[in-house]
Order: sequence, then structure tokens, then C-alpha cells
Amino acid sequence: MDRLTIITPDDWHLHLRDTPYLEAVVHDSARQFGRAIIMPNLNPPVRSVEDALAYRQRILAALPEDSGFQPLMTLYLTDNTRVADIEAASESPYIFGAKLYPAGATTNSESGVTDLARLDQVFEAMQKHRFMLQVHGEATGPEVDVFDREKVFIEKSLERIRRDFPELPIVFEHITTLDAVDYVRTADANLAATITPHHLLINRNAIFLGGIRPHHYCLPVAKREIHRQALIAAALSGDARFFAGTDSAPHSKQAKESACGCAGIYSAHSALELYAEAFERGGDFTHFEAFMSRHGADYYGLPYNQGQTRLERQPWTLPESLPYPDSGLIPFRAAETLNWKQILDD
Ligand code: NCD
Ligand code: ZN
Repeated sequence: MDRLTIITPDDWHLHLRDTPYLEAVVHDSARQFGRAIIMPNLNPPVRSVEDALAYRQRILAALPEDSGFQPLMTLYLTDNTRVADIEAASESPYIFGAKLYPAGATTNSESGVTDLARLDQVFEAMQKHRFMLQVHGEATGPEVDVFDREKVFIEKSLERIRRDFPELPIVFEHITTLDAVDYVRTADANLAATITPHHLLINRNAIFLGGIRPHHYCLPVAKREIHRQALIAAALSGDARFFAGTDSAPHSKQAKESACGCAGIYSAHSALELYAEAFERGGDFTHFEAFMSRHGADYYGLPYNQGQTRLERQPWTLPESLPYPDSGLIPFRAAETLNWKQILDD
């Protein structure tokens, strides 16, 4: 098979940053995707409807002129999020959920939630309005091994949230383990998960291949090969609770190649091609369109995109670096060759 034509896909987990970084990256997502769920971990975070609408305007202003790309906004939950914030957001046609970052779990999570019990009324309101909870599912704390954080979060936190709020719709973001795949697969219809292209393509060896590889460092960190295989199986399975979310998270070259390098992989530049490569390695494109373009929309209760997107088998080499303020941006698989290429209409 040398050609793939699919309904224009969506990215159900994307970091676009803010001016002037936003302007350097948004066109990559707009070229490939119809819509994206925009993560709210700016500094300061997107905490209110007002913040989200203002951020949405900055994204729209940064888009190429003829772009129909739609940013789907989210709020950032803090210890001080009020029920009124949720009620207002659930009435907005532009806001599609609220993101839970356990405090200290990842980039710009300092304002995240320190104690889940403090959010009970907020979760109650979200459940009532069927307002999506997007979860960064990693336990924090020095006693939890970095490779066990997702599993411990399932046991200690996610299980409790789901027991206490059974009708709350949840997306378990960027899952990385066999444990998470099994947990989602055996859960009811109110739990789904996004899977990134990099977690489908690398295991944790990639972080240490011949030396420390900061451009393969992200959170949740890549895991053992058995976990990568479980993610491939989930993505290729056709199970509607798994869908694409790149977690493309740009940081400048300098911020990555540092004594304390930032977590985040920039995949938006060739996200579709990377997902195609993962499906090709798995040897089955049967559910490629469903994973890229239908499952997420179904779970969010949104219509499919109108247009179509084409890919061809046409090996091409990624650039070494992309323009970005400060020191440039190194895309995932920089200077390497990918087999698939998106074909743009003239
Ligand atoms: C993300 C970022 O840089 O904002 N980093 C990452 O490694 N994925 C935050 C996140 O999604 O954890
Ligand atoms: Zn993310």
C-alpha cells in the first residue's frame, strides 16, 4: 500500500505555547490537523473562561490566513478552581474540558493540584455538566519511581476519581504503559486515552542511546519495550477509546540541551507521518483513520472534519532544526528519514 486517504484528523492533546513561540509552531499543526485540544499549561496558566478566550484569540491571530484550524480550549485546574469557573466553561462553545496536573508532575505544573480531595465539588460540577476531565496521570513525590508514576496514579488517584464520579467523562492523556492500556480497555464508556506518536515509536532505550539524548526526554517518560508494544496494540486495535494526541511540546534547543533539560518532544512538524510509521511497523492500517480522525471526535461528541488528508509512501528527510525563538527547535526524528509524507493540495 502506497497511499492513505483519511478524514482530516484531529490532535486531542497539543501544546502551542504563547507569543512569540506560538507563531513559530502553530502552522505545523494547522497543516496537518482540523482541530486540536490546546493544553492550558502556560505561565501563568489558563485558569478562567476569560483567559481561555483571550488565548484562543492569540492562536487564531497566529494562524495562516486561509487556515480553518480550530483550537479547542481547556482550563487548568488549580487548588482554587471554583465551581463557577466550571459552570461558565461548560457553557462556552469554545472550551472543551479542564486539565488536571498533579502539582510538580511536569512542565509548568507548579500551580497544579496538591490534593485531589480539594477538587471534589469541582469534579461534581464537571460530572453534572458532562464536562471533560483531561488527566496528566502521574503520581508525584520523591518516593515514587519515575517509571512507576503512571501505574501508581491509576491505583492511588484515578481509581478513586472514577469510583466517586462514575459519570465524569475522562481522557487519560498520553498513556505510556501496559497497565494504562489494560485499565482503559476494561473500564466503562467514561474513560478514554490519547497516545502520542513518540510513545508508539520509542522505548526508554532511546533516551540513553550511546549517551544522554535530551530530545527523547518527555513526561511521562518512555517506558520498556513491552509497554510500547501494548500501546501499538491499543492504537491498532480499533477500540474507540484510544485516539491520537501528539503531546507535541516545543522547548528551544537550548532549553532541552541543558544541565537540567526540559521535558517535551516536538512532533507536530510531522505528526501524521510519525503515526503512519507506527501503524506501518505494526503492520496494519485497518483502523488508522478511526484512530486519527474518528474516535476522538466521537468521544468528545463532535462531528468529523469535512475535508480529507492524503499521505503517500515517499521517503523524505526531516530538517535538523526548525526556526524558533532563542536557539531553534529540534523536531522528533530530526535529520532522519520517514517513509510517509503528507501530500498537500496546491
Ligand atoms: C509538556 C510540556 O512541555 O508542556 N511536556 C512533556 O514532556 N509532555 C507537559 C506535559 O504534557 O507533561
Ligand atoms: Zn502534554
